Amino acid sequence: MKKLKIGIIGCGGIAHAHMRSYLAMDDVEVVAGADIIPGKAEAFFKEFEVEGAKCFESHKELLKLDLDAVSVCTYNSQHAVCSIDAMKAGKHVLLEKPFTVTMQQAVDVMRAERETGKIISIGFQPRNSKNMQNIKSICQSGRLGDIYYIQTGGGRRLGIPCSDSKTTFIEKETGGVGALGDIGCYSLDMVLNAIGYPKPLTVSGYKSDFFGKNPYYVGEHCASKFGVDDFAAAFIRLEGGIILDFRISWAMHVNTPGDTLIMGKDAGLRIPSTDCWNGSIGGPMTIYSKIGNSLTETTIPVIDEKDPAGLGLFGQKVRSFLDAVKTGGKAPVPTSQIIYNQAIISGIVESAELGREIEIKIPEI
Ligand SMILES: NC(=O)c1ccc[n+]([C@@H]2O[C@H](COP(=O)([O-])OP(=O)(O)OC[C@H]3O[C@@H](n4cnc5c(N)ncnc54)[C@H](O)[C@@H]3O)[C@@H](O)[C@H]2O)c1
Repeated sequence: MKKLKIGIIGCGGIAHAHMRSYLAMDDVEVVAGADIIPGKAEAFFKEFEVEGAKCFESHKELLKLDLDAVSVCTYNSQHAVCSIDAMKAGKHVLLEKPFTVTMQQAVDVMRAERETGKIISIGFQPRNSKNMQNIKSICQSGRLGDIYYIQTGGGRRLGIPCSDSKTTFIEKETGGVGALGDIGCYSLDMVLNAIGYPKPLTVSGYKSDFFGKNPYYVGEHCASKFGVDDFAAAFIRLEGGIILDFRISWAMHVNTPGDTLIMGKDAGLRIPSTDCWNGSIGGPMTIYSKIGNSLTETTIPVIDEKDPAGLGLFGQKVRSFLDAVKTGGKAPVPTSQIIYNQAIISGIVESAELGREIEIKIPEI
């Protein structure tokens, strides 16, 4: 059996999860890695006791190798350039979330995808969660009737991902966006995917950084480097007359920003406050409706996530990408959907900075 040859670009935190997934599969081999920090790629392969892998400080050098695909595991600001270069060098791409930092970067990636015909899939492993899939099947079943309003979001009380040794999530140059991109993209994907990814039309956004910039909460080192949002909220109008009311937080003085509510003309779905970035829901869901003369409540139990192959949600995301590469299939999480996710994130940033509602414009790809 010819094994797929894989390269990993960016050998930091999440590259470990990619590597563990690849090592658990016998039809792939990771043959190269690149990290701009000297020695980091070498140390990465040593940690996994993988011998013979080629190591580089430039992703461009790695891309000269004969590879089938790459995992792009860099911090956010490098997602676009590494993905574009990879596709132009003939490699399929599994790109970590969030898609990019700006709309223009996302458009540039999609243009490279169209020009090269390569597969690029965005790394949303919660898509593989049986509970997330159940939310989608409930929405798609018609049980709720026409959906007109969604409240969603999530957050942590004090969970800004920064330490003295790692600031890549909170610096403007590397993270680009904060909670909004890091975990907001998952909340948006959970509901938008459930309802078929309608196009976003307008957004009125807000963002703040009261915790990230305050040494009392994050320490001097992180506070001095903090250049992104730690909280964001928005009112978004979607095609089809649907309203999306959204908030996301890395830090706040409440325990939860609330449950996800999906309101339809026939029934409403309540999803208890979720760590949707882990693919988990906060408890059984409830569908509220009226049957005959009775107001009814139907409990939807939490589904056990155990998968027979033992890959976990992350491994399943990697597997579905590899299967698309092997069969010439479609990207499991296509850019044609995630461009709307990015448009909302970038729209919130723009609207918050202008202090008014904006129209979302998505250029021709
Ligand atoms: N899917 C998930 O569950 C999940 C979890 C954590 C992080 N992420 C995403 O993964 C990405 C990376 O996060 P992380 O925690 O690994 O960050 P990290 O800072 O630990 O690692 C990123 C690495 O990329 C390297 N790098 C940056 N630009 C590069 C380039 N042009 N060429 C080669 N190497 C480059 C950096 O030197 C660093 O070592 C982020 O976009 C993040 O949102 C996803």
